[in-house]
Parts: sequence; C-alpha cells; structure tokens
Amino acid sequence: MDAFTFYNPTKLIYGIDQTNELATQLPKNESILLVYGGGSIKKNGLYDRVLSQLEQVNAEVIELAGVEPNPRLTTVRKGIELCKQHNVGFILAVGGGSVIDATKAIAVGAQYDGDIWDIITKKETATGALPFGTILTLAATGSEMNAGSVITNWETNQKVGWGSPFSYPTFSILDPKNTVSVPQDQTVYGIVDMMSHVLEAYFHQVENTPLQDRICESILLTVMETAPKLLDNLENLEHRGTILYSGTMALNGITQMGARGDWGSHNIEHAVSAISDIPHAGGLAIIFPHWLRNSMSVGLNRHVQLATRVLQVNPEGKTDEQIAEEGIQKLSEFWSSLGAPNRLADYDIDESQIERMSGIAAENGQFGNYAVLQEKDVQRILTAAL
Ligand code: NZQ
Ligand code: ZN
Repeated sequence: MDAFTFYNPTKLIYGIDQTNELATQLPKNESILLVYGGGSIKKNGLYDRVLSQLEQVNAEVIELAGVEPNPRLTTVRKGIELCKQHNVGFILAVGGGSVIDATKAIAVGAQYDGDIWDIITKKETATGALPFGTILTLAATGSEMNAGSVITNWETNQKVGWGSPFSYPTFSILDPKNTVSVPQDQTVYGIVDMMSHVLEAYFHQVENTPLQDRICESILLTVMETAPKLLDNLENLEHRGTILYSGTMALNGITQMGARGDWGSHNIEHAVSAISDIPHAGGLAIIFPHWLRNSMSVGLNRHVQLATRVLQVNPEGKTDEQIAEEGIQKLSEFWSSLGAPNRLADYDIDESQIERMSGIAAENGQFGNYAVLQEKDVQRILTAAL
C-alpha cells in the first residue's frame, strides 16, 4: 500500500426528511446563490421546500436555473457573474452531479479575477472559493463529497475534469426522498456510474491492498444486489437510500486510500461526450467492458479476483483468461439487464467519429494508471464498442 494523506471536510447529513435541516446549515442574513437544473426540483416540490428554509435564515436569494446535464462553461460564467454582481456569500446547489459540478466552478471562479477556464484546464491554480453546500437529488457521481468537477466547453469540444482543495462542499444533504422522482433511465445511469467509480479504483498496480479491495467489492456487491430491487419499485425509500449512500462511498476518496485507480475509461468517456452530448454513464456502460478486455494483457490477477469475488464466476476447470472474460461478460450482461446501452451505435455514434474522439482522449499524451493507453489503444477500444 502506498503512503497517503486523507482529507475530506464535507459534512454529510443523511436520512429521510433531513432536507428540513437545511436552515441549520446555512449562514444567516446572507446573499445566497441557488443553483439548480432544468426544473425537476420544481416538479417534485423540493424547490418550494428549499425556498422556505432560505426564508428562515433571511437569505437574499439569487437564482441560477437551467444548469445542463454535462454542465457548460457558459453557464458557469453566468453564475460567476451573478456572484460578483450580487456580492454572494454562499452558494446552494440543489440537483445532481451536473448542478454540483457547475457550482464548484462558480464558487472558485467567484474568488478569481481571471477566466475560470484557465483554472479548469490547469493553466492557473485556484486560490480560494466561496463556501457552498449541496442537496443531492440523484445518486451517481459522488460529487456531493469530493472536490472533483467536470465542465464542458462546446466552443473547443473539451470536457475537462478538474478539482481543487477549495471545491469540497461544506455540507451535503442526502435525503432519499429527494431521489424518488429520478426516472428509470437516470436511476440506471447512476448505478452504472457509481459501479464504474469503484471499478476505476479497483484497477491499480499497487501491491497489498486487501482492505481497499474488500471495500470496493462490498460496494459493488451491495449495488448489484440492490439495483434490481430498486428498479422493480422506484419508490422504495430503503433501496433509494442504499443506492444514495453507495454512490457517495464510491467516490469520496475512501476506496482509493493508498492506491490510485486507473481512470482511463472515464477519460475516454469524457472525450466521447465532448463530441456527442450523451449521458456520462451511458458512455461508461458501453466503454468499460471493452477497457477491461483491453487491459487483460497488463495482468489477470485483479480481473480474476473481481470475477470470482464479485461477479460470481465459478473458476473450476477454467484458465485465468476464461475467468476474466466470463467476468467481463457477466458485468456487461448485468448492466444490459438494467437497461443500460451497450454499443456506441445506441447513441448513433459511428466509425467516422472515432478518430476525433480518440484524439481528444489522448490530447495530453498517454493516460491510465493501470493500463497505460495511447491514442491507438483508444481507437481499438472504441472500435470494439461500435
Ligand atoms: O436538470 P434537472 O431538471 O434537475 O434534471 C436532471 C437531469 O436531466 C435529472 N434529475 C436529477 N435529479 C432528479 C432528476 N430528475 C427527476 N428527479 C430528480 N430528483 O437527471 C438528469 C441528469 O442529471 P445530472 O446532474 O446531469 O446527472 P449526474 O448526477 O449523473 O451528473 C452527470 C455529470 O457529472 C459528471 C459527468 O461527467 C456529468 O457531466 N461527473 C462528475 C464527477 C464528479 N464531480 O466527481 C464524477 C463522474 O465520474 C462524472 O464524470
Ligand atoms: Zn463517472
């Protein structure tokens, strides 16, 4: 296990009706920017509940509505402008990963005189941020308890992941009731995304990580056991709660103490959605099995461990290659059984786009910590996924 320092300052407030605790977490008599998406919080009543909590702290509320899935730089810039114009002292994000990711960029950008894109693209370093809290409405990204954010610039066709020590939420409220209205397809995407985060963490080159491995395996097993039950009854609050907690645990740093995961599949997916605006985890469900197959040449130990401990492959009488391949098939079948896509063609992506997507994925050179990938490897993976 490698040396590590673990730091995560986000206060997590989990439980049914914990939304009612919002006012206790907010500053009083402050200008607060309320950031949300395309309107789901108005349909399910959360918007009204949040406004009444904001009233309790005598907030001057400024709104930024309409944050897109795959949030855009233009929207982030709008939010930064609002913060500067209205002297905002706190930001409240109410939504899924996209709303929270946009909020992180707004919070950092509001305390920076230059262009936020320079910080996102790592030309400049963040020096501070406005404090912000979140009410998570979709279990998926883990953004509610990490410092990461992913922003898309449509002018340059770049979807860039970035983070800073200042972009942890001060608090995040995880109320399973707020996720009940998430439709079936977004629920499935969330499940695939959190499983992918664990799989990224699981594939590393570090020796002796038995506890990290078991933590990853237990999250995967829990999600795989709960997902079909939840999809049978999307209103079941216990299953919603289990999935909500799993999504946070999958990417709050706990799985990656002492071993940095691979993250190549995420890099490839971000390149795909930078060209074709598809749901992040729809892309992952298609790409990850092919990344796994491609990475078998690096070594089979972790594939075999995943297949036998998590994917219930019976190893008797089989070679390591056969066990690994059966594991990949079982993972892919599981995602398909939930209704996730499994071919790029499902999103009308064809051969003609692969060269451009591969070029974007490898624009900063080779990547991936377990399987180091070059542009030609990405082309092979995406071609297999057609
Ligand atoms: O915009 P609204 O109207 O709110 O609708 C959203 C959106 O259409 C809807 N939704 C959210 N909560 C709902 C709901 N609908 C009904 N009821 C609710 N309670 O769901 C749709 C998708 O929302 P979005 O926030 O885009 O989804 P998700 O949470 O999956 O976030 C995806 C973004 O996060 C990035 C992805 O790349 C993508 O841009 N990621 C962020 C990460 C991070 N910060 O750590 C890591 C991830 O790997 C990922 O890359
Ligand atoms: Zn993801």
